[in-house]
Formats: sequence, structure tokens, C-alpha cells
Amino acid sequence: MEHSDQPDFVTGIPVNRIPDGGMIQGRVGKEDVILSRRGADFFAVGAKCTHYGGPLIKGLVVGDELRCPLHHACFDLRTGEALRAPALDPIPCWRVEEIDGTVFVREKLQQAPDIQTSRKTPASVVIVGGGAAGLAAADMLRRKGYDGSVTVISADDSAPYDRPNLSKEFLAGEAPAEWIPLRSPDFYTSRKIDLILNRRVASIDIGPKKVFFEGGQTKEFDALLLATGADPVRIAVPGASDSQLHYLRTFADSRALVAKAQSAKQVVISGASFIGLEVAASLRERNIAVHVVSPGRVPLEHVLGDEIGRFFQNLHESHGVTFHMGETVTRVDGRLVTLSGGAKLDADFLALGVGVRPAVALAEQAGLRVDRGVVVNEYLETSAPGVFAAGDIARWPDPHSGQMIRIEHWVVAERQGQVAARNILGYRERFNAVPFFWTSQFKVSVKYIGHAQTWDEATIDGSLENKDCSVTFKLGGRTLAVATIGRDLQNLQVEAAMEASLLQSPVNPLLRAG
Ligand SMILES: Cc1cc2nc3c(=O)[nH]c(=O)nc-3n(C[C@H](O)[C@H](O)[C@H](O)COP(=O)(O)OP(=O)(O)OC[C@H]3O[C@@H](n4cnc5c(N)ncnc54)[C@H](O)[C@@H]3O)c2cc1C
Ligand code: FES
Repeated sequence: MEHSDQPDFVTGIPVNRIPDGGMIQGRVGKEDVILSRRGADFFAVGAKCTHYGGPLIKGLVVGDELRCPLHHACFDLRTGEALRAPALDPIPCWRVEEIDGTVFVREKLQQAPDIQTSRKTPASVVIVGGGAAGLAAADMLRRKGYDGSVTVISADDSAPYDRPNLSKEFLAGEAPAEWIPLRSPDFYTSRKIDLILNRRVASIDIGPKKVFFEGGQTKEFDALLLATGADPVRIAVPGASDSQLHYLRTFADSRALVAKAQSAKQVVISGASFIGLEVAASLRERNIAVHVVSPGRVPLEHVLGDEIGRFFQNLHESHGVTFHMGETVTRVDGRLVTLSGGAKLDADFLALGVGVRPAVALAEQAGLRVDRGVVVNEYLETSAPGVFAAGDIARWPDPHSGQMIRIEHWVVAERQGQVAARNILGYRERFNAVPFFWTSQFKVSVKYIGHAQTWDEATIDGSLENKDCSVTFKLGGRTLAVATIGRDLQNLQVEAAMEASLLQSPVNPLLRAG
């Protein structure tokens, strides 16, 4: 609907046009505004998500929260606060008045400063890792009114950035470099966050509470968050020089790929994982010929199942990508890439997306409990009190699946950073968000809610061909995860249902046992 066709909330709207527990969109002056109702309470908030501008009217109201359909950011309808990542900034709010059955939206409210008094005040907080979890944690510490010293140490030479974009719009040439930082340099100065870039922490001494930098300096901490993420698995490719092989984890990696892509005609991608396929799609957008080589049977099969995997293979093929499934790269001689089946392909360079390993070396060296990830409890605290871990490195007790899990999702990492920060301040908040991730290839986006390591039933509803379907993954009759294409609202509804079922039985018996 055009902005001018929308109801003008300033002149008022009958109460009965606003569904209880729902919302309608209208305008206030030049701004698109959502009006929502909960019984006798009315809320007016901005219609655009502060993450990537998602249309909140297509989202879901859950209690006092409004959730974005694109990547599940969650806003407080009363204050506009971005309660849960990936949005970090609030949406605007307006004062609402009801007079004799008509609701009027009045003046915009001053954004309530999201400062709240913290319950515990460590003398200083050190965050090792300047990625999704690290930035979200630093942001939350300040939001909650913590005024002690906050230091973020990152081995990366760039300030925290939007990693998921590196294989998507940025690589495809559709997003400028200015979009990539998560925060402007002012943010760190104004919030007094000491961001130390391009420095690697070599070790941690938990007893005297010190981190040791490579090169010798030390930094003391009172509370510590480890958020060191994951590193790409690097493989030896006989005959290939380092400059021919590209991995993608950092902004610098993506810039290097973009530089090579300027003149490339044909590229070989090893791995049909999310990264491999997103890189394939982005390079095709640049009109580069792409060959994907993978030992698997069907791309993405182990996460999204056979049907969605085949759908993505067909989608890629329809855009000109050639697949070599069941094969590996065995050798590179100059521009010639040899596959295990004997085929030889010409390539300007190779991109490798063959998985990642959690960066747990620091935690191991510090003596923390590590078991295929840094083991944390439901409060994201490691085996050492006062030391927290979040993001790709953390293995936590997921109350939804009833398992200790470690996963590599952007939104999970950010939300864990936020919860860890609150727990550093003494909130004792369980991390119980339902895991969520998305991928986007050739403008087709899959949203995945829940976590199914294995399943014995995958039921498809709707049509993959029409890009309008959901696939429900069940184990022993219990729904563990749902993947949707073109059904963002349904994905949010599943999230809300999974949360509600957790409220009914907060401790999963499997976790109690294990
Ligand atoms: C190209 C790409 C695309 C992706 N797309 C998606 C997507 O579409 N959807 C999705 O859900 N997920 C996606 N992911 C996964 C997502 O980005 C990760 O799950 C997320 O970044 C994990 O956050 P993190 O904070 O744990 O680690 P990271 O974001 O990796 O940050 C780790 C930080 O720790 C620093 N560090 C590591 N060791 C040290 C040390 N010893 N000393 C100092 N600093 C250190 C690193 O430099 C880095 O700053 C993508 C990942 C990549 C690489
Ligand atoms: S655009 Fe709203 S969560 Fe991403």
C-alpha cells in the first residue's frame, strides 16, 4: 500500500479496526507507523526494522513484543527497545490516546534512554572477540547502564561488521563497503568502549584474571567473555599456491575475493555448504562461470534435507552454476584444476568453503572445560565462575532440543552475547532463545527455526517450486525444526510456539539426565 493510501492515525481510527493482539499500518505525517492493541492498551511504533529495514507489519505480535519477519529481531512495543538481536537499535514510539472509541496517535515520544541500573558491577569487563557475540555484548553492557571499563579485543583489523553480508550482497557487488560495519567509530567513543583491533590474545590466566597479548602485554579483567568465533577449515590442495586459494571468514577475505572477481572469468568452489553456495550465487551475479565441487550427494542436505537441497541445486543450475557432486579437487596445476573423477577445469582461483572449527585454543589453554566447543551452562558461564563464552565457540544446554549444542548462526551469537552481558551484570538469565538462521541465494531466502541434528521425518507443506513452503523436521514425532521459504510469518509463529511449549515444561528431561 502507498504511504498516502494508508489510514492517517493523526485524525484517528476506530478502535474496532485494530485487531486485539494484532496490528495495522498507517501514517503519522511522513512516517509509516504500526498501531497495535493489547486489550485496552494501544501502541504506536515505527514500521521499519532497524536491522535491514524489514516490514514489521508482516511480522508477529507476541505479547508486548513485535518481531520482524526477515531475521526475527524483537522489539518492545511499549518502549521500542530492540530486545533481541539482530536489530541493535530501537524503533520510534508515539503517544497514543483513545477517546470515545477512536484511537489517535499523538506526538513522537522521546526515546527512553535504554539505561537501566545494573545489579552487579564488575570493576572491568574484557571481551575477547570483536564479532557478532562480542559487539552485541559490549553494546548490551552499556545499554544496561554498566559504567565500568569495557574492552573488546579483536584479532581482526576491522571494527565489528556484518559477517553474513560478506558472502551475499557485498560479494555480489550489491552492497557498498559502508554497509558492512555494525557500528560507526563514534559509537565506540561515545559509549567508552575500548576497541583494540588487530591484536590477538595469546593466553589467559584465570587465577590472577589476566589476558596476555601476543607480543607480551597484559590486561586485567574482573569479568571475561570469550567470543572468539570459528576459523575456516584449511585443506591442503596439491599444486595450489596460497594466492589461488580463498577462504571466507573476514571482511578482508571478502574484499580479496571481490578484488579477484573483478577480472575473473571462471571459478571453482570447493564445498556445497552455505558459504560455498552463497559465494557461488554472488559470483554468478557478477557473471562469472562457477563450478561447485563437493564430496556430498546433495548440497546442504545434512542441514536442510534432501528436498530443499535439491531445490537449491536446481536453482543454482538454472542460474548457470555447474555442480560436480561426489567429487573433490585433487590437484591444481597453474590454472588447471583436476577433480577426483578426472575432469579438468580452468579456474582463475578457488574458493573453499569446507566448514569451520570453533576457536577454542584460548579456552583450552586457560583450563576451561572444552568438549567440541567451550562448555557453558544455561547462563552461558564456563567452568570458571565469572568467565562467560558466547557465539560459535559455545556449547550450551539447549532446552528446546534437550541437547548440548554448538551452532554457527549469526543471530544466536548476537543473542548469546546479549545474554552473557546481562549475566555478567548479575541478571541470572537463562539462554533459551530458539536457534534461528537464514540463508539467501539468488534472492531466495530460507528461514530455519529450531535445531535438528538428526531427524526421522521431514514433511513438506506447500510448493518448493513456487517458493512457498515449509519443511518440518521431526524426531520420534517431536518437531525439532522448521525451514520455510516464502513463509516468514509462519517461521515466526513456529518460534513463538516453541517458546510457549518451553514455558509449559521449562527443563527438558533429556538435559536433566545428561
Ligand atoms: C561469510 C559468512 C556468511 C555467513 N552468513 C550467515 C547467515 O546468513 N546466517 C547465519 O545465521 N549465520 C551466518 N554466518 C555465521 C555467523 O557469521 C557466525 O555464526 C557468527 O559470526 C559467529 O559470531 P561469533 O561472535 O561467535 O564469532 P565471529 O563473528 O567470528 O567473531 C570472532 C571474533 O574473535 C576474534 N578472535 C578470535 N580469536 C582471537 C584471539 N585469540 N584474540 C583476539 N581476538 C580473537 C576474531 O578476530 C573475531 O573478531 C556466516 C558466516 C560467514 C563467515
Ligand atoms: S530486517 Fe528485521 S531482523 Fe533483519
